[in-house]
Amino acid sequence: RIPLLIDTDPGVDDALALLTAFNDPAHRVVGLTVAAGNVGLRHTVANALKLTEVCDAAVPVYAGTAAPLLHPARDAAYVHGRDGFGDIDYAPAGRQAESEHAALAILRLSQVHAGRLLLVALGPLTNLALALKLDPTLPQRIARLVVMGGAVTAHGNITPAAEFNIAFDPEAARIVFDGFPRFDLADWEAVIAHGFQHVEAERWLRADSPRAAFYEAISRQTRLWSADRRGDLWHSADALAMAWALEPDGALETVERPVAVELDGRHTRGATVVDWLRQEGAPDNARILMRYDQERFQRLIRAALAAG
Ligand code: BDR
Ligand code: CA
Repeated sequence: RIPLLIDTDPGVDDALALLTAFNDPAHRVVGLTVAAGNVGLRHTVANALKLTEVCDAAVPVYAGTAAPLLHPARDAAYVHGRDGFGDIDYAPAGRQAESEHAALAILRLSQVHAGRLLLVALGPLTNLALALKLDPTLPQRIARLVVMGGAVTAHGNITPAAEFNIAFDPEAARIVFDGFPRFDLADWEAVIAHGFQHVEAERWLRADSPRAAFYEAISRQTRLWSADRRGDLWHSADALAMAWALEPDGALETVERPVAVELDGRHTRGATVVDWLRQEGAPDNARILMRYDQERFQRLIRAALAAG
């Protein structure tokens, strides 16, 4: 089985991505490294631990850095709830995070699984940037990096031009985008192109399984918020990135281009700037997801919810 390391800031859509990963027979989740993002680190770590418990997954959880590299954090509690898991007041997990820092765990696991590791980043890129600064040879040991982040035509979801994961810690994103010669990017616009009907999702959430019941509860608040804002369609950013990570041949269209992170713009800080016409001569560092098999995406989610 392919070793899979997930850097995450759970987060309601992170949770769906994690359920999908835990349910995949071809991959073995070797660790969750946790970032601050959707909410503060205390909550994202507690949520990661809780989810491993709900899924009976004995996966080690490593806490990362509590704040962006340079600038103050802004969270997304208005989407995910104050605790990041819909404020349902769940009983905390009985297990604890490991003592090793997430950035060090990324480096160590990249040694243990050198050349085979699938790394999926579902939150701000702070942990990964730190790991890369400690050891710039990290990319050589990673078989594939998939990042959920960015807005390739500048339709941001947190500012007019920037997507949340990048805008939360643009300096970290810059380090990762510049430091990895090749990575896969599932951006916010791809997410918007791959919504599914709320009514259908509600049917999947009624599956007779503890995972579906837990997910139904933690996602309730964010589903209401999203129905109110975006109508009939529900979008799960991190689950789309995870589907592409787990089943790459479900990608129907991808485009390779140089992508850079804007740090200085007055309106565009945190934007992912794609050199569509390759005018600056930089190498193509990103393979951008344009279209993914919607049937397959939904099948993965349905199966993950019904499992266990
Ligand atoms: C991304 O930001 C977070 O709110 C979600 O968990 C997802 O990773 C979407 O912009
Ligand atoms: Ca996330």
